[in-house]
Amino acid sequence: MNLTLKVWRQKSAQDAGKFETYQVSDISPDMSFLEMMDVLNEQLISKGTESVVFDHDCREGICGMCSMFINGEAHGPDRGVTTCQLHMRKFKDGDTITVEPWRAKAFPVVRDLMVDRSAFDRVIQAGGYISVNTMGNLPDANATPIEKHDADAAFDAATCIGCGACVATCKNASAMLFVSAKVSQFALLPQGQVEATDRVRNMVQQMDLEGFGNCTNTGACEVECPKGISIENIARMNREYLKASITA
Ligand code: SF4
Ligand code: FES
Repeated sequence: MNLTLKVWRQKSAQDAGKFETYQVSDISPDMSFLEMMDVLNEQLISKGTESVVFDHDCREGICGMCSMFINGEAHGPDRGVTTCQLHMRKFKDGDTITVEPWRAKAFPVVRDLMVDRSAFDRVIQAGGYISVNTMGNLPDANATPIEKHDADAAFDAATCIGCGACVATCKNASAMLFVSAKVSQFALLPQGQVEATDRVRNMVQQMDLEGFGNCTNTGACEVECPKGISIENIARMNREYLKASITA
């Protein structure tokens, strides 16, 4: 496949940034999108030009690093996949592909396609954990019975990989899908009840402090989420937040 790439280049958060156009040839339809970007970078390096900076790590859909907005969609045109799982067979020979970073105030551009998602880390630090005594007197994990429905729903929420596609897709740059997944994975389990009130209050407060927008129930986040996190989690987080506000 021969392709034209329009790639966002930006030296720093302060730089205005602009699109640069590149041609790549002999791209295999079996390559992943990141492998295609590697080909572009090898080409740029061999010409003495600076390579395109982008985040990546696992390249198998589990780390959430490969944040790219491809042809106007977070993680590109396929559904239920991250950019590293997106195959070039989803495009046609001769296509022009536009590649941009996540765009949200809370995710400033570090360079080119790499953004700073430490706002998510700070939301997690505000309460996305449970405190347990691990000093030798642990009860057996199976000693706490949990209904299958709740266990499944908690597991589904826990599959969020913190990629930020929900924020990048949302017209309000809202982080509600991410935060609600992290609240839900504990709210559904007995182990999460002890710190439930503080958790939801502190995480929502941190989310607002970071400058994420609010949810207006458009549902775009759910559509673009590579892990299929449901907006039911947002409703659950709102209920948890209301409960915490009343009992505070
Ligand atoms: S909710 Fe989905 S889109 Fe948002 S960070 Fe988690 S995995 Fe990514
Ligand atoms: S590189 Fe880890 S999810 Fe894509």
